[in-house]
Amino acid sequence: MKWILIFAFGCSLTETTSAWTYHYSKVPMNWTKAREWCQINYTDMVVLQNQKENDYLISILPVRRQSPYYWIGITKNKLNETWTWVGNNSTWIGEDSWAANEPNNNHSTEFCVEIYVNKAANRGKWNDEKCANKKYPVCYKTQCKASTCERGKCQETIENTTCSCEPGFQGQRCEKAVGCPALSHPKNGQLSCSEGSHIINTSCRFTCDPGFLLIGSSAVTCEVTAEWSDLGPTCASYIEALSAVLGFCVLSTFCGICFCWMKHRKRKKVAQTRPTGDKAA
Ligand SMILES: *[C@@H]1O[C@H](CO)[C@@H](O)[C@H](O)[C@H]1NC(C)=O
Ligand SMILES: *[C@@H]1O[C@H](CO)[C@@H](O)[C@H](O)[C@H]1NC(C)=O
Ligand SMILES: *[C@@H]1O[C@H](CO)[C@@H](O)[C@H](O)[C@H]1NC(C)=O
Ligand SMILES: *[C@@H]1O[C@H](CO)[C@@H](O)[C@H](O)[C@H]1NC(C)=O
Ligand SMILES: *[C@@H]1O[C@H](CO)[C@@H](O)[C@H](O)[C@H]1NC(C)=O
Ligand SMILES: *[C@@H]1O[C@H](CO)[C@@H](O)[C@H](O)[C@H]1NC(C)=O
Repeated sequence: MKWILIFAFGCSLTETTSAWTYHYSKVPMNWTKAREWCQINYTDMVVLQNQKENDYLISILPVRRQSPYYWIGITKNKLNETWTWVGNNSTWIGEDSWAANEPNNNHSTEFCVEIYVNKAANRGKWNDEKCANKKYPVCYKTQCKASTCERGKCQETIENTTCSCEPGFQGQRCEKAVGCPALSHPKNGQLSCSEGSHIINTSCRFTCDPGFLLIGSSAVTCEVTAEWSDLGPTCASYIEALSAVLGFCVLSTFCGICFCWMKHRKRKKVAQTRPTGDKAA
């Protein structure tokens, strides 16, 4: 049924399959019906996001000499509402998208928009129209699939789709996790990491083999900056640790002794000089 409909009424303007494709019907319909037709057969009524897309669209649609022209997917429900694109609620309107003296709301209920695809001066410009009027639907079919971008948002542009990646991911399909440098287990210790080994948000815990003492922090996290939150720890044997501690004690004791001895000598010197002075006096 679907294919018969497309064959009978529709026309595809497929040129590439890597980006969204535009399609139109050869049968004029009111706006509501036109949108329905787009949603049944393709993705939705066409959404234009910039002047380039507007220009591209009119370059591929067949020229019409007079009304009816084509419906585009921008509309509003009430007089004081802003014009809004179907699909993603964007409100983009180019600086001179409207034809001269439009939108004029001539019938006070002109809440749908047609695009002139003709050879006159207003070619490619928009005009507000009554939604009940019959015009040719223009639709788009999205090429973005759930799998197009692994960890990002798929965006369609003329003849291309691009993925804008979540923080921590890169690559054409956001398939590559930005990672921290690989970690290795400390000498005489173990390393265990959550999910992945060094991608963003991974946290790793360190433990030391029995008989070894962990010096430093026992856990690190791979941060969004692709750097580890901390340098890994070292595992020192208790003997090493003990001798380090002992060494420190010995050193400080020795220093203490030295200090005392020097102080003592100084005091002695002072004591020796004082009586001489006394004698002179
Ligand atoms: C657009 O706005 C309508 C009404 O506010 C809402 O129901 C709909 O989910 C929105 N669509 C998107 C794609 O944001
Ligand atoms: C609508 O989608 C296009 C791309 O898909 C994007 O460039 C634009 O910013 C979107 N608009 C809004 C309001 O989300
Ligand atoms: C308003 O609509 C009437 C017919 O419905 C038409 O004759 C007239 O030209 C329109 N005015 C403008 C400014 O489009
Ligand atoms: C649009 O057309 C359909 C079918 O052709 C009809 O049922 C519907 O009432 C029409 N809507 C408007 C607003 O004219
Ligand atoms: C599509 O976009 C990507 C990223 O912006 C770019 O590298 C690629 O060359 C584009 N392909 C085409 C056919 O324009
Ligand atoms: C990292 O965790 C934060 C918060 O839990 C989350 O928002 C973000 O998407 C995660 N990043 C990656 C690359 O997984």
